Amino acid sequence: LSHLSPSSRPPTLQWIGSIDGHLQILDQRKLPTITELVTIQNTEELWNAIKTLAVRGAPAIGVAAAYGMVLAARTVPPSSQSNILIDVLETTADYLKSARPTAVNLAWAVDRMLSVAIAQRAVGVRQLQQRLLQEAQSIQAQDTAMCLAIGRHGAPFIKPNARILTHCNAGALATSDHGTALATLYEAQRQGIPFQVYADETRPLLQGARLTAWELAASNIDVTLICDNMAGMVMREKQISLVIVGADRIAANGDTANKIGTYSVALLARAHNIPFLVAAPTSTFDLTLKDGSQIPIEERPGSEITNSPGPSNECLAPPGIKTYNPAFDITPASLITAIVTDQGVISPVTEPAIRALIHPPAKQNP
Ligand code: MRU
Repeated sequence: LSHLSPSSRPPTLQWIGSIDGHLQILDQRKLPTITELVTIQNTEELWNAIKTLAVRGAPAIGVAAAYGMVLAARTVPPSSQSNILIDVLETTADYLKSARPTAVNLAWAVDRMLSVAIAQRAVGVRQLQQRLLQEAQSIQAQDTAMCLAIGRHGAPFIKPNARILTHCNAGALATSDHGTALATLYEAQRQGIPFQVYADETRPLLQGARLTAWELAASNIDVTLICDNMAGMVMREKQISLVIVGADRIAANGDTANKIGTYSVALLARAHNIPFLVAAPTSTFDLTLKDGSQIPIEERPGSEITNSPGPSNECLAPPGIKTYNPAFDITPASLITAIVTDQGVISPVTEPAIRALIHPPAKQNP
């Protein structure tokens, strides 16, 4: 097992070099046993990395896709007309969006890249390529800043000796750095507040076991791993005082898509009278959707359920058995005590309160 301190953990993703460089990602399929960096040189490699969860978590796939637009842009010869580059970017945007449908951050980031290219087309292809790289880097820097702001707004919820339950991984590995739900824990730790964390393993792909447990332990946070089906018993027996999770898309009324199992945890939290918090950056809100029923839910192969995760990949179920494997579920706003964002805290979670705080992304200036 790799024991990495936060300072020795490689960045989740990073652009290396100039416009001719490449995207480097930490391969999350192999954690925690192998720490491997993967080089991404073109959009097909990136699509596969997103699809197979080598890079995952809503904000991180948004940042990765922004760099994907750079990889596409640089295939256009500098002597071409700008509209050739715009065409390539439009096709790439649709292609990258098709890798994973639920997290809106992916669409948000590629659309932002496209609008920069359209607004600045007059500067020519060579300059546009440079500007797109700068834009992707600024999306990444903003993501890091939003995570730190979420940490500051969320830390007051972590009372001394709190017992916190989390689901999936909404940490540094799911963002440019620091995380969303876990950013609140890192900030509370920085402030010297003592607390304990229970991490759901998060079947079928075990992001809780493989990633959250690893990331928190590496940061010297007191973390205990449990199976998903233990959450109710642990809430009662261990007196969980707070649940905090991330989000993949939040509709205008506050209904929230997050990793499958989040809805069950929210119901359990309500039954035990435990506050249930969602932490997410502005880029995770989709105010074009009225409610959660409009959020597309990714379905993944049944082999993720029938076969054991990890290198052995042994089949544990009867061959040919029917499966259903939605990767996300919707937690209704009525079960969410508060949404912690980079702009502040939304509580109670209502559409007017969301619209008062979250504004659609600003249009780029030409
Ligand atoms: O399928 P994944 O691992 O990409 O799912 C990730 C989650 O559901 C996270 O909770 C969410 O993206 C928030 S990450 C800050």
